[in-house]
Amino acid sequence: MTWTLRLPPVASGAGSLSGFTPAWLKRVVNADLTEFYVSHLSPLWSMRQVKARVVDIVEESADCKSFILQPNGLWRGFRPGQFVTVTVEIEGVRQQRCYSLSSDWREQERLRITVKEKKDGRVSSWLLRNLRKQDVLMLSQAQGEFAAPQSLSEPLLLIAAGSGITPLRAMLYQLEEHPRNTVLIYYARSREELIFAEEIRKAAAHCAHLTAHICYTAAAHNQAEEGGRFHPDQLSRWVPDYRDRRTLVCGPEGLMQRVRRHWREEGVEARISFEDFTGTFHDFFDPGLIASSQSATYQVDFQRSACVIEADGRQSLLDLAEAAGLHPPFGCRMGICHSCKARKRAGVVRNLVTGKASGAGNEEIQLCICVPITDVSLDV
Ligand code: FES
Repeated sequence: MTWTLRLPPVASGAGSLSGFTPAWLKRVVNADLTEFYVSHLSPLWSMRQVKARVVDIVEESADCKSFILQPNGLWRGFRPGQFVTVTVEIEGVRQQRCYSLSSDWREQERLRITVKEKKDGRVSSWLLRNLRKQDVLMLSQAQGEFAAPQSLSEPLLLIAAGSGITPLRAMLYQLEEHPRNTVLIYYARSREELIFAEEIRKAAAHCAHLTAHICYTAAAHNQAEEGGRFHPDQLSRWVPDYRDRRTLVCGPEGLMQRVRRHWREEGVEARISFEDFTGTFHDFFDPGLIASSQSATYQVDFQRSACVIEADGRQSLLDLAEAAGLHPPFGCRMGICHSCKARKRAGVVRNLVTGKASGAGNEEIQLCICVPITDVSLDV
């Protein structure tokens, strides 16, 4: 007798098995085991994990590539400005990083992430050196609230530096369908490190309502080009009405601090939004659960390191340890790999996966998914 496993067509809903698995099969087969066998039939197939195949790779600059991805059928789509968390396994340990989608929102099944080499950027370096066409990546659903306001009558100011251009590039595609008065200021170290140069030039040529300014922070190449970093004088010259615009900023911390300070001094801080990619921990866990954990300030005592730090229940113990300059081992940062197990000597923590509070005594916990809800002492 021949058994045939019927699978959905690859082009639409590719790789999703959850929709047609019989209920009786779900009951009798362990979900993890099913996932294991399904992924061995095809690396793109999954019952619960968004995965995407690399269908093209574009060299954007000497140290930057865009990966064009075709997601499986579990993908629920994205809005311009959102990001995905990419999970890869490096030397046997799962690592995650967030990457903004630089794709055209009209092509919801053809995603693009743009990855630039960064000092200490372990995942970015790995992707740039190892990812090939036909490889499959694990992705989260699209996340984040970084988006242009819905009202098209509200003028925009977009400020980016380096790879911070990626979410703003996705927003520029929107202008083709939904024109609005927009100014883009983009800082790159040099002409060689400019990402999407040609696309920005074309967008500005075709969209009468878009003005683009490019500024080289290392040095201008000729007198027609602007050099230097963000400065209020330059801003007033290029965008005299910037106080009236909704402003979206994405780039390195230094740029965001300078912009934030200036907007605060001008009393218009409420009109600005930032994308800073510090949200990995928060994006994976229920915001309600995190909020319910933050009602006071607690002391976290890393006893072995002779280091005490204050916490407000919004950061995992792993994040707190790193903020204190410690380096406990970690892998997935989402409760899967158990690399971050450590012994709690005293105090109560909440596990954000189960939602449960621990006991008050000596026990093993996972640093990446626990937040303190009393003073806590750890053997770290
Ligand atoms: S780092 Fe993987 S479980 Fe904490």
